[in-house]
Amino acid sequence: MTDQLVLKVEDLKVYFPVKKGLLKRTVGHVKAVDGVSFEIKQGETFGLVGESGCGKTTIGKAIVHLEPAFAGKIYYKEQEITNLSEAEMRPYRATTQMIFQDPYSSLNPRMTVANIIAEPIRFHRPDADVTAEITAYLEMAGLRKECMLRYPHEFSGGQRQRIGIARALACRPEIIIADEPVSALDVSIQSQIINLLKRLQRELGLSYLFIAHDLSVVKHISDRIGVMYLGCLMEVATTKELYNNPLHPYTQALFASVPIPDPRKRSAKVPLQGEIPSPLNVPPGCKFQTRCPYATELCRDRVPQLEQVGDGHLVACHHWNNLHKK
Ligand SMILES: Nc1ncnc2c1ncn2[C@@H]1O[C@H](COP(=O)(O)OP(=O)(O)O)[C@@H](O)[C@H]1O
Ligand SMILES: [Mg+2]
Repeated sequence: MTDQLVLKVEDLKVYFPVKKGLLKRTVGHVKAVDGVSFEIKQGETFGLVGESGCGKTTIGKAIVHLEPAFAGKIYYKEQEITNLSEAEMRPYRATTQMIFQDPYSSLNPRMTVANIIAEPIRFHRPDADVTAEITAYLEMAGLRKECMLRYPHEFSGGQRQRIGIARALACRPEIIIADEPVSALDVSIQSQIINLLKRLQRELGLSYLFIAHDLSVVKHISDRIGVMYLGCLMEVATTKELYNNPLHPYTQALFASVPIPDPRKRSAKVPLQGEIPSPLNVPPGCKFQTRCPYATELCRDRVPQLEQVGDGHLVACHHWNNLHKK
């Protein structure tokens, strides 16, 4: 890892209008991402965790301009790219690539693997030796060159994810946004893909935004982790610090929900209770107050800000200090 920032997200908000009636009038907004800030250094992996629907994918999509930012700023290195037009974005397009949970839906089923990987090569480097590059990227992703003439449906889930990775690599990116890349895979295959991503990071100096819905997956790849709830970051810390000293009640509940094989290591903390509120009807004050065992009047009144409570450890909770002492 170096000290150079490759990605900076500042107070990012992504809202989806909710339309009703014949006139399709906007009657409200789903605040999918509601003021999120974080940075990623060159060669670093920032893990993003939180229950389904908390806005993780939307953050990734906003960074690669698949969704417009409602407010806030996105920087690639020193360049602000938040509202760049399609043409202005062109020099930055290749730098950040997104890979998805279900590569099958992001790989064109009617294209051979060779063509899937050739597409970005031809687009970004028209003069390249396409066949040589396809072979090289397949190999980097751990696939044999015999795969070239086959179609995505002929592969297993893990191999399809490798095709998605090879396609992303063909753009020669600096940042990869991996959106739950192993969530749909068998546990044994998960670690193979994680190890592949780690090796590629070492060899190519890639930076990752690694998205997952539970803490067990991000642990093995992240340098730092951000915990999200209903569009907001609740806690950010290095992986080691977050595992040793989780301060936010939501993070603690997430840990309590992770299945741990050794019963002696099981935490005494309460696992998550109740349903996640609808993002259309977010509770006032702290968004977690309706499910938090420690919520008080203050939590129902005032939104806690993400504050620095230790070296690189940030938490958004009015009571983190009291809980910690208990
Ligand atoms: N295109 C869209 N239009 C309207 N609402 C959306 C759209 N995409 C996502 N949402 C909503 O935004 C919230 C966050 O979604 P998402 O980013 O996919 O969450 P996650 O990836 O954490 O599961 C959810 O409530 C989801 O229903
Ligand atoms: Mg998602």
